[in-house]
Amino acid sequence: MCLAGLTGYPCEETGGAAIKGQLAGIFDLTGKVAIVTGGAGLLGAEHAEALVEAGAFCVLADIDGTRARAVADRLVAGQDAEVAAIETDVTRAESVSMLLQETLRRYGRIDILVNNAANNPHYEKVSADQKLTGRFESYPLSAWNDDVAVGLTGSFLCCQIVGTYLANQGEGVILNIASDLGVIGPDQRIYRKSGLRLEQQPTKPVTYSVVKSGLIGLTRYLATYWADRGVRVNALVPGGVYTDQDPEFVVKLTNLIPLGRMAAVDEYKAAVVFLCSTAAAYMTGAMLVIDGGRTCW
Ligand SMILES: NC(=O)c1ccc[n+]([C@@H]2O[C@H](COP(=O)([O-])OP(=O)(O)OC[C@H]3O[C@@H](n4cnc5c(N)ncnc54)[C@H](O)[C@@H]3O)[C@@H](O)[C@H]2O)c1
Repeated sequence: MCLAGLTGYPCEETGGAAIKGQLAGIFDLTGKVAIVTGGAGLLGAEHAEALVEAGAFCVLADIDGTRARAVADRLVAGQDAEVAAIETDVTRAESVSMLLQETLRRYGRIDILVNNAANNPHYEKVSADQKLTGRFESYPLSAWNDDVAVGLTGSFLCCQIVGTYLANQGEGVILNIASDLGVIGPDQRIYRKSGLRLEQQPTKPVTYSVVKSGLIGLTRYLATYWADRGVRVNALVPGGVYTDQDPEFVVKLTNLIPLGRMAAVDEYKAAVVFLCSTAAAYMTGAMLVIDGGRTCW
């Protein structure tokens, strides 16, 4: 859905007023070049679409190059947009350096880095007999290493390699995609299934909390570190997106959310444009929490 017609937002088409006066243009990203890691995924594609609709050229940097290419084709279809797919493994410095070089070769500059790639394991979808529960006591070291490598080390490498380019340029924006579970602990009761023994019960794994809290720390660290180099660094803190999950799980989760529902997939687009544009010029080191109120309850 186009930014102009987002769920619940007024716009010209739906009778709302256009942005006028001093505010006109400050959300505009025309000519900016943005990299979105994990850009082939559910939310990465939405972030990219938002940036493209605001006028940016966008690079989808995903380990799944084929899916990234398909998303890029979908985003350019029917509109005057430029979206590239560059197969990238954010856990490998050489791959991120190649992403930097290839983006510069194609567009000559980079303005925005969105660190969105992460493992988002859903152990509640795995059947009990597969013995994959995400439970802390038996969480495999290999899974810990992989989750941390993608979600945290990957963001570190992208900040170090692409962010350093932005700092040297004296201008740029980094947006780290955290989660409400970077701010609060998971309520493991919502993942429980009836009829299973404790050790079979699915859980949100420890790495999700660690990675997302770590990203908020990385955001604050770099916001002060590069404050005098023209680079703003913020974190978006989204709540869970509804994607046809198990109804029992949805009821338990929405009971924890004051607005009484999970997010629609397009409800973070306006925030992404805001945080990446001049509209947020006085904002750095901040968390923008969009979670239907979950973390305030
Ligand atoms: N979906 C939600 O409800 C939700 C809620 C809050 C926060 N988030 C966060 O938003 C972000 C996106 O979530 P999503 O639901 O779109 O996940 P997703 O699994 O749909 O997308 C993740 C993408 O990252 C890519 N990826 C994995 N390893 C990679 C690597 N080594 N290098 C480059 N790319 C790699 C995957 O191929 C995939 O396309 C994640 O950081 C997630 O934690 C999601």
